[in-house]
Amino acid sequence: MFRKIIMILLISILLLSVSSMAQLKGKLEIFSWWTAGGEAEGLQALIDIFHKKYPNVEIINATVAGGAGANAKAVLKTRMLGGDPPDTFQVHAGHELIDTWVKTGFMEPITFLYKQEGWAKVMPKGILDIVSYKGDYWSVPVNIHRANVLWYNKKIFEENNLTPPKTFEDFFKVADALKSKGITPFALGTKDGWEAAHVFETVLIGKLGAEGYKGLWDGKTKWSDPRVTDALETFKKMLTYVNSDHSARTWDEACALIVDGSAAMTIMGDWAVGYFYAKGFNDFGWVLAPGNAGIFDALSDSFGLPKGAKNRDNVIAFLKVLGSKEGQEAFNLKKGSIPARTDVDKSKFPPYQRSCMEDWLKHKIVPSVMHGAAASEGWVTEFKDVISLFVVRPDVKTTQKALVNVAIKNGVKQ
Ligand code: GAL
Repeated sequence: MFRKIIMILLISILLLSVSSMAQLKGKLEIFSWWTAGGEAEGLQALIDIFHKKYPNVEIINATVAGGAGANAKAVLKTRMLGGDPPDTFQVHAGHELIDTWVKTGFMEPITFLYKQEGWAKVMPKGILDIVSYKGDYWSVPVNIHRANVLWYNKKIFEENNLTPPKTFEDFFKVADALKSKGITPFALGTKDGWEAAHVFETVLIGKLGAEGYKGLWDGKTKWSDPRVTDALETFKKMLTYVNSDHSARTWDEACALIVDGSAAMTIMGDWAVGYFYAKGFNDFGWVLAPGNAGIFDALSDSFGLPKGAKNRDNVIAFLKVLGSKEGQEAFNLKKGSIPARTDVDKSKFPPYQRSCMEDWLKHKIVPSVMHGAAASEGWVTEFKDVISLFVVRPDVKTTQKALVNVAIKNGVKQ
């Protein structure tokens, strides 16, 4: 008898939860800039899981193309300030989330979800810290991306008997050898205005080391430091090895040059590996960007709950998918990043991501500036603009002065 009652109880709980899932209806607008190869597939994997669980919710996949949110961030700002927030949106954990949206009062805390789902127990402290403010959690991190990777076309390196470079010295030797064979050494796209600054960020790390680079964002390292001069000189030289049509190419169109074998190397975050997977390209190799040994330049994509979201229940259901093991595995397998959760099945991941998971545990972690983790959005934008200008007019002295001024303007004494 007792058994029977328990059975009936269990079945009704099950039926209840199934029907409450199916009961979610209406819409869910997901705002992001994930349109390129790897990005779009990663997002779709999340949407597929959500759709299976909540078939009656209509998903509006609101993307604004442009890597690193080059165009999406402005659209988002207009909508948020105009009182028309998307239900949920992609935002980098760290300064971009906290300074731009949390401190200004645009978000709802989601600490209750962290408690319900036990996320604080399965995510690393370094990531939890950058989605926290004043004792609350404000977004769900879906991944950890690494920004400081040099990708190369294996066939080109093998055919030319070259070893992938680890130092700047090696980089220039390899680049010269490639150039003499008529191969574009270094693929770059500068169309969206952030890609050069992304590469320069890794040059800064390579020249200043983890502590020196971190200090640039809190005033411990001065922008007038001779190592910054060295970084600019080095970057200027690197720019002499890039494809001549860089201003017409986006980050993924630069990666396409590695895929089709018309360029040998590029420096890009590991969304590049997501792009390679999406193109079915396996003949790539990777090393860390020159001088970056033992340093993990990190960023994390996350999603939160804006105040006034039109479909709050649906957002909460979606955030649960984002934080789940199933969601994190499916998404990151396509995206090239590693899950923010540490309890995923590592054996499911390809070699690059497995090695990245190991590095995450043993390397020094530094926050990426170009991807919202190291400094507030205003500073990032000005930093990016100064470096964009440098690509066109590579004047080291003027540029360094401009970088000093930008730091001062953003409240860091020089
Ligand atoms: C980064 C983002 C990545 C990837 C990349 C290129 O800012 O964190 O997920 O999408 O931009 O668009």
